[in-house]
Amino acid sequence: MKRALISDIHANWEALTAVLDDIRQAGVSTVYCLGDIIGYGPDPCRCIDKVIATANVTILGNHDQASLFDPKGFNPVALQSVYWTRDQLDSLGTRSQINRRWDFLGELPRMHEEGEFLFVHGSPRDPTNEYVFPEDVLNSGKMEALFGRIELYCFQGHTHIPGVFTLNREFYSPEEIDYQFQLTGEKTMINVGSVGQPRDGDPRACYVILDEATGRVEFRRVAYGYSQTAEKIYNIDDLPDMLGERLASGR
Ligand SMILES: [Fe+2]
Repeated sequence: MKRALISDIHANWEALTAVLDDIRQAGVSTVYCLGDIIGYGPDPCRCIDKVIATANVTILGNHDQASLFDPKGFNPVALQSVYWTRDQLDSLGTRSQINRRWDFLGELPRMHEEGEFLFVHGSPRDPTNEYVFPEDVLNSGKMEALFGRIELYCFQGHTHIPGVFTLNREFYSPEEIDYQFQLTGEKTMINVGSVGQPRDGDPRACYVILDEATGRVEFRRVAYGYSQTAEKIYNIDDLPDMLGERLASGR
């Protein structure tokens, strides 16, 4: 079975629809969403409705959680977007649409396990909130603890920086491995990157196709109309302009 793994959509409708088109063209019909459907971006309700309609599995992200409960450790920009997002969720659509979105968010699991594959938003140790950055490979204690929590393979998002963490504490960005990684039978953590707010310097939307039969992991980058998304953000007073500006640089 082939699965498309998408994460960190962050209410970016243009990026989400471009990625879903690419997934369809790749002939993949199973989609797992690793969290943060909303937050930062201008189209939270549309993106939630699309994920409800499309994803076979969805995991709770910290921004999804922040819409439900008051967040801890959010910076002022993130917090401002949480309040605006909540307002949208409470006001757009019919009462039944509004209830359906809140029910969906409220019931999202924090992790999903299938055989040797674990799917989380953040990390195997703290599935919703812990960041695993490329430079963490220098922190052997952290790496040991994280790898100690996984059966074999863990797929995650949250940092918006795609790549592969190996058991011997190396990190490989998608470019370094020609956008492909062969699962080896050794423990591996893979960050699938971000659909709607990439932060690795490449503004194209990022996601992963996992082919279980061959053990092949493919990182895919999809160009989308980020200026359209940015324009929407600029036109919303409660969303800081920097949230639009960063889409062009992928930072
Ligand atoms: Fe995120």
